[in-house]
Amino acid sequence: MELLDKLKWRYAAKAMNGQKVSADKIDNILEAASLAPTSSGLQPFEILVVTNQEIKEKIRAIGWNQSVITDCSHLLVFAAWDTYTAERINTMFDLTNEVRGFKNEGWENYRQMLLNSYPQKDAEVNFQHAARQAYISFSQAIAAAAFEGVDSTPIEGFDPDALDEILNLREKGLRSCVMLPLGYRDVENDWLVNLTKVRKSREDLITLVD
Ligand SMILES: Cc1cc2nc3c(=O)[nH]c(=O)nc-3n(C[C@H](O)[C@H](O)[C@H](O)COP(=O)(O)O)c2cc1C
Repeated sequence: MELLDKLKWRYAAKAMNGQKVSADKIDNILEAASLAPTSSGLQPFEILVVTNQEIKEKIRAIGWNQSVITDCSHLLVFAAWDTYTAERINTMFDLTNEVRGFKNEGWENYRQMLLNSYPQKDAEVNFQHAARQAYISFSQAIAAAAFEGVDSTPIEGFDPDALDEILNLREKGLRSCVMLPLGYRDVENDWLVNLTKVRKSREDLITLVD
């Protein structure tokens, strides 16, 4: 129940008060984001942690002027691989072998299967797939923030091309997909803070196939 209580406490904050989040809590949230499952374990994305106020101002300007972008403590930017390359796939498979300390035939066959499919696909298709993996991590970060008593705002309301330029993401083979400001709610100035959470009924969401 404790997790559910915290998820009910969480909401998409519309105003934050500038209070800093401790390094411990940020670290726990990032660890939870890292522990998210991803397709084939490739983790095809990176997370940028923006604390520089000037850069936050620039991002706010291309982020629908949303105040949480500048009034948060840490701004997470989830940026997915722009495509899957053989090098990227090999790096993750090699890392697995290194960490586990052995090579496995089934795993190597699986590596070849991915090498024979992903790199040949259209870059946009690959980016969309990679972005879906980034969103799993993003969602886990949201839940972890709530668990830590830290507020957050999921943000898709920005110009991704402009954000890529501000953070030089294209040069790194990355494309921004979603942002997550972390901080503390500004109770006085947030119009959403006391409104009831709205979700569709369980009947409309869930179908039991028995
Ligand atoms: C992918 C995604 C993008 C979102 N983008 C924005 C955004 O740009 N600005 C904002 O204020 N809320 C944004 N939201 C928040 C949603 O509007 C909010 O999660 C939804 O209305 C449910 O409310 P709750 O999160 O407060 O329970 C986004 C949520 C998600 C999951």
